[in-house]
Amino acid sequence: MSVAKKEYKRITVKSLIEMKQNGEKISMLTSYDYSMAKIVDAAKVDVILVGDSASNVIAGHETTLPITLDQMIYHASAVVRAAKRALVVVDIPFGSYQSDSKEALRSAIRIMKESGAHAVKVEGGEEIQESVKRIIGAGIPVMGHLGLTPQSIYKFGTYTVRAKEEAEAKQLISDAKLLEKLGCFGLVLEKIPATLAKKVAESVAIPVIGIGAGNGVDGQVLVVHDVLGMTHEFNPRFLRRYMNLYEEMSTAISQYVSDVKTRDFPNEDEQY
Ligand code: KIV
Repeated sequence: MSVAKKEYKRITVKSLIEMKQNGEKISMLTSYDYSMAKIVDAAKVDVILVGDSASNVIAGHETTLPITLDQMIYHASAVVRAAKRALVVVDIPFGSYQSDSKEALRSAIRIMKESGAHAVKVEGGEEIQESVKRIIGAGIPVMGHLGLTPQSIYKFGTYTVRAKEEAEAKQLISDAKLLEKLGCFGLVLEKIPATLAKKVAESVAIPVIGIGAGNGVDGQVLVVHDVLGMTHEFNPRFLRRYMNLYEEMSTAISQYVSDVKTRDFPNEDEQY
């Protein structure tokens, strides 16, 4: 069932703002490779995020910190080749924008030029404002990311819900307004109380996409491997799994092994 209010041939940052104005929720999912992005794009997901969660999901690291700019560009260029409709947003990885705004711009330019992506995403608020300003000044659309920001995991210490205390909630609202003022086209809010996320979405005109931030925001984002149940050890409350691909893939692969061992595969029709 489609609940789109308007058919879009190609999603742009303008389309997302229009969706918010029209009360149409925005769908966003991660992808890190061509084959997955092709399916995600054909299913009319509005935004494909080439997240630095590739560091966890694809490379098996414990955090998002180790992934490099070159690796992000490799993933992003594969996704861009598949995306015919979706807006492709790419995370600038840890260490590629925090030291100074010129480095931030160089990193953003490399992503845009070498992958063909449409926008970048950065984590943080007022502490990265100079970088955000410089990147947007060069004509590159920027999405902000507040709340639980995994690149700062060693500062937080845990992946628990952020901004439950008033001071942090106030800072988050102020950062959201600042990012809007600087020209960000959208925001991701990760793992914060639903009431706070709704308040943020109502206080800014740009689309606010939540992950673990409730239903009062303008759209939702999840990691595609979690949605498909390929990752079965990760079970946060906010995650809805739409299938158990881990089990289905395990069964299929075990069957293949068995077919090879028993000489059932290949049969006469499967050879030349
Ligand atoms: O890297 C990522 O997948 C993300 C989402 C969790 C928003 O930033």
